[in-house]
This record gives sequence, structure tokens and C-alpha cells, in this order.
Amino acid sequence: MATNKFLLAAGIAVSCGLWTAELKADEGMWLPSLISERISDMQSKGFKLSEEDIYSINQASLKDAVVLFGGGCTGEVISPEGLLLTNHHCGYRQIQQHSSVEHDYLKDGFWAMSREEELPNDGLYVRFLERMEDVTAAVLKGYEDGMTEIQRDSVVNANSAMLTEKAEAEGKGLKADVESLYYGNQYFLFIYREYSDVRLVGAPPSSIGKFGGDTDNWMWPRHTGDFSIFRIYADKDNNPAPYSADNVPYKPKKFFKISASGVEEGDFTFIYGFPGKTSEYIMSEGVRYISEISDPSKIGLRTMRLDIQKKYMDESRAVRIQYSSKNASVANSWKKWQGEMKGIRRLGTVAAKQEYEKRFAEWAKGTEYEGILDRLDTLYAQLEPYAYAADWYNESAATAEIVKFATGYMKKWTEQMFSSSTVRIEELGREMEKMASAFYKDYYLPIDKESFAAVMTAYAENVPENFRPEYFNDGLRKFGNAEVWADSLFGKSVFADSLSFRTWKDSLSVICNDPATEFGDAFGKWYKDTIKPVTDSINREITLLYRDYMRGQMEFEPQKSFYPDANLTLRVAYGHIAGYSPSDGIYYTPVSTLDGIMEKDNPEIFDYDVPQRLREIYREKDFGRWGVTDSEGNKTVPVCFIATNHTSGGNSGSPAINAEGNLIGINFDRVWEGTMSDISFDPAFCRNICVDIRYVLFIIDRLAGAHHLIDEMVFTEE
Ligand code: ARG
Ligand code: GLU
Repeated sequence: MATNKFLLAAGIAVSCGLWTAELKADEGMWLPSLISERISDMQSKGFKLSEEDIYSINQASLKDAVVLFGGGCTGEVISPEGLLLTNHHCGYRQIQQHSSVEHDYLKDGFWAMSREEELPNDGLYVRFLERMEDVTAAVLKGYEDGMTEIQRDSVVNANSAMLTEKAEAEGKGLKADVESLYYGNQYFLFIYREYSDVRLVGAPPSSIGKFGGDTDNWMWPRHTGDFSIFRIYADKDNNPAPYSADNVPYKPKKFFKISASGVEEGDFTFIYGFPGKTSEYIMSEGVRYISEISDPSKIGLRTMRLDIQKKYMDESRAVRIQYSSKNASVANSWKKWQGEMKGIRRLGTVAAKQEYEKRFAEWAKGTEYEGILDRLDTLYAQLEPYAYAADWYNESAATAEIVKFATGYMKKWTEQMFSSSTVRIEELGREMEKMASAFYKDYYLPIDKESFAAVMTAYAENVPENFRPEYFNDGLRKFGNAEVWADSLFGKSVFADSLSFRTWKDSLSVICNDPATEFGDAFGKWYKDTIKPVTDSINREITLLYRDYMRGQMEFEPQKSFYPDANLTLRVAYGHIAGYSPSDGIYYTPVSTLDGIMEKDNPEIFDYDVPQRLREIYREKDFGRWGVTDSEGNKTVPVCFIATNHTSGGNSGSPAINAEGNLIGINFDRVWEGTMSDISFDPAFCRNICVDIRYVLFIIDRLAGAHHLIDEMVFTEE
């Protein structure tokens, strides 16, 4: 009996031990070339492969199957013939560009049923990382203590240019970048091979690829089939080449095998991709400004614009189409900032950082880091009114559509016009006509005018007079308020209506003296002359101090592992499948299914209008090999899952990889309660969202009938 009791107790101790290890923070986005420092932690959490499998310059490794997609997303190669997966929202532009009223691929989806039908994309490229190297010494060659930040920049820039030029000369299609890590304490050279013949192969209809729209964006539970498929083409020698009908599918060094056996809570996950920007090591003052001043201001202004857009979009189908893309991009950051602000408040990040800074300052006494936080504090105080003025300008005056159009347009047009021959003028005229029809196609004046009046009223109320253009103060005195100003500006501007604009198009003085042009030019000039030079120069000093503060933090906590902030370079984030509790009394499980799509189905609500074919498949439960049976014996298809990987914008499209290195999903978002992870990661709330590879395959197979694509892929279970 006694022995049994002991065994039982020991058993509990062991499983509790495992349990706490599992719940340990999965914070961090690590450099693949330095993954040896993390590999034993990864392996202890379940990873079965070695560091050489992740990143190697001697043999094919997982990095050779990951690409930077189009300069802002990630993608992964999934077949020996260059087939590439990314998100639907990453391929959105390309899908849209190939769409017309006759072929609305956004609405209906697109599937190339043969190689001939795959669609080339002007301007799209993917980059494979060939290798990365620490080049700190070479970049700082010639730098001497006591140099100013401007002098240091010029040393860094000159050395970097030499290094990249040399690297790019090594082979075809090579592109190199030198990137600063830890605020310029370290520099790495990244050498990529860039392929620019990348063709669209398939995309589901938006009712799948963007299911849930902005209503569900940044949220869990989620049911978005956020994927699209491309193919990389190369010349006959597998080298990068511009588009040519003679190009052939790229033969990858490495491609992902697919695991369709599914995921469960606790399973190891690994996201391999290109996160864009994080600020994990900034001081409390920086966080306070973002979460208490900047985010709330920007959110408030965008709420006004979104409400106005919604009012008119609800009234008219045509307006809804016109503003769908604009509305999505305004809403995306708007929603993220709210989550970020709330998360930072809940975490008490500002107070926690202040407390940390106190301890740091105490420790720093008598070292080279003494006084650094006070100096940063002073700079932040100097910066704040200027940063505030810039934030308000960018989210108010700079968002007026008619003003952007007039100013950008007028400049392009008039400047070139004055220096052109007659032939060129005709050409420019055509160019102008094209730009105008693109602008007016998606322009609805009542939205723009009402938004202008609303945001400029808020601007007048919230921005101190001495941080506004004189032009604005004069205008306000003249018109009395922004609403009257809007009436006048939109009433008089030739840009307000496409027809009057066309008749006036050859009269330069009209364009230059137009109230919309005047407004944009006055604000633009004020920003360029009085705000930007100050923010630039203070930010330069802040960066310089951060270089020291970063190094100081590393010395202050020598036992801690510091990952460099994201900067659109390749990173490894590892964690595990996990649900979370968003608030008291609620627990979110980590996997969503087709049942949830049908629960949301509502033909009356645009974001939740499930395609008819999917309804039929669901009714017939005809899921093929992608179906699963849950514990109650109910047949369904897994759709999305969440995990604890530390990701950011740019990780969209990243491969979600299991312990064996096989593909289980595609990363596409984060949960709302965890969006503060760009500033502070909380293991209780931070989750990334992936579309389950089985849902992707189910759509390709059952909805699109593109079996030839599935035939190209390699499954681990076969
Ligand atoms: N939140 C995701 C990201 O930041 C998806 C954005 C696209 N989807 C949307 N509904 N706007 O990119
Ligand atoms: N949707 C984001 C992107 O396009 C990823 C979500 C995030 O910020 O984590 O990169």
C-alpha cells in the first residue's frame, strides 16, 4: 500500500512536471542559423529533427522550401514541381488583377486545370534564402568611437553596399541585404535567390478564402480557408528568369511533405517565416505612447471613417463593392490596435517595464549604461508632441481621398507637363485618364466628404494649434468649422466629380489652385518642413541610445535568451497547439471545424454566405479522405487551429510544421487578445491562427476538383 501511494505520488509529480514544461512561454522568433542555441529546447518539447534539418548551407534543409512571398508575406513549396502555398489574402492582389466582370476570380475562385492555364503575374517575386552570415565586423569597418550617428550610418551604408554587391555577383538572380539586429549591435548579410516568374494556379472563392471577412478578422473561433496556390517557374537550368513561355516548373532543393493525420492539443508546432516588425525591448515610455496615446487616437479616427463607410455600404451594393478593399485595410489595423491596447493594459506592460527600468538603473550605476534611461526619457518627452502631430495628420488630413488624388496627381502631371514635348503631353494625357478612371471607379463622394468633415473636426479639437499648419488655422477661422470647410472644398473642387474634372483636365492653373490640391500641398509641406525633420532627428538619437540599452539589457540579464526584433528576415517560432481562455468562464478549444462554418452560414450576411456547393457537400457528408469523426461519432472536416507560436505581420502564409518537419497548416493570423505580442508576449493569450492543411486539401479536392494538384504532393501517410 505504502509503495503504491509513493508510486502514485511520483506519477503525479512527473506528469505535473511535463505539464508545466508544456505551458512555459513559447515567446521568441529565432534566427535559423543560430538555432543550435534552441535546438535542445525544441527537442525537449517534441521536435524530432536536428538543427541541420532546419538550416544548412551544406545540404538541403527546410529553409529551402520557405520563401518570402511578394515582399510582405511567406510561402512554402509543396511539390517537386515548384507548387507554392500562401494565404488567400497574400495572393489577393494577383487574384484581383486577373479578375473582370466575365471572370470574377475573387467571387468564384480560380483553378488552372493544366499548366497552360496558370496565370503569370507582373511584379510578383519570391525569394529563397541561400544563406545568412554575421558581418558585423565588416559592416563597422572604419567606424570609430565618437562618430555621430549620421557618420556611423554612412560607414554602415557604404560597407553594406560593398558586401551586397559582392554577394549578388556570385550567381544568377541573387539579391542580398544587410540587416541590423538588436538596434545595430549586430549585422547580418542575407543572400536570397529571387524568382520572378510566379504563376497563379488556384484560389478558392472569397466566400471561403475570406470567409468571416472583417467580422472574424483577428478572432478565434475562425473558419477562413485563407489559402491560394502559385507555381514558381525557372529557365531550363532551374535558374531565375523573367516570365517566358519557355520557362519550366522550378525544381526545388526541398519541398514540404504533407501530414494529413491532424493535430491535437499539446502537439509541437513550428512556424518558419518572415515576421515584419516587433518592438519587444523598448522602454516603458515608448509603450505608454503607443498604447495610451497613439493607438486610441488612431482607433478613434478610424472608427469614424469605418462607421461612415458602413452606413453607405449597407445602403448600396455598388458602394459595398467600391469600398470593400479600402474598408478591409482600414479595418485590419483598426482592429489589431484595439487588441494591442487592451492586451497591454491587461498585462500592465507599462508598469512592469517601469519596475524593470528601476532595477536596471540601479544595476547600471557606475557602468557605461548609467543614465541611459533618463536620456531616453528626455528624448521621448521631446518627441511626443511631434509624434502626436504626425499620427493625427496621417490618420486625418492625409486620408482624404480627393486630396490624395489631387496632390499625387497634380504633382505627377504638372511637373512632367512643364518639361514635356507635345508628343509626351498626349501620352501623359492618356496616363492621366487611366489614373482618373481607376480612381473614380472606386470613389464615392459622400463617404469622402463626410469622413473629411468628421476627422478634421476631431483634428481641430485634439491637436494643439501650434502643431497644426497655419493654413489649417486660417481655414478654420475663415470657415468656422470643418463641416462648412468640407462643403466648400467638395463643392468647388474639380476633382469632386469625374465629369467636371475631365473637362478641366487641360487647365493647369485650375488643377494647381484647386482647393483639394491646396489643402494637400499645405499639409504636405507643413509635415515635410516642420514635423518630419524633428521626428527623424530625435528618432536617430533614440536608436543610438537603444543600441546601448539593448546591450545593457543583455548584460543585465545574462541568463536570458534574447531574440532579435522582427525585421522581415527568416525566423523560427516554435510552440504547441493550445486553446486559451479569453475571459473568465470561457475556454476556447484549439480546433475549428466545418460544423462551425455551417453554424455561421447566413446568405443575408455577406461575410457568412457559404457557397452553395459547400452546403451540399456538408449535407451529404461527402468529405472524402479529409473527413474526421469526432468523439460523438459526428463526421466533419477540421478547418483552423491555434497554437502558441510567436508570429507577426509577414508570417502570413508561413508553413505550420509538425514535430517531424511535415506540413500541417498555413499560418494566417493571430487572436485578438494576443495582438500585443509585437510589444509584449503573454503565453496565456498569444495564439497564432492557421488553416488546417486538411481543409485546404478538402477544398482543392471536393470543391475545385483539382485532383492533379493533389497528385503532385507527397503525403507522409502513404
Ligand atoms: N489579420 C490578417 C493580417 O493581418 C488578415 C488580414 C486580411 N483579412 C481581412 N479581413 N482584412 O494580415
Ligand atoms: N495577417 C497577418 C499578415 O498578413 C499575419 C497576422 C499577424 O500579424 O500575426 O502577415
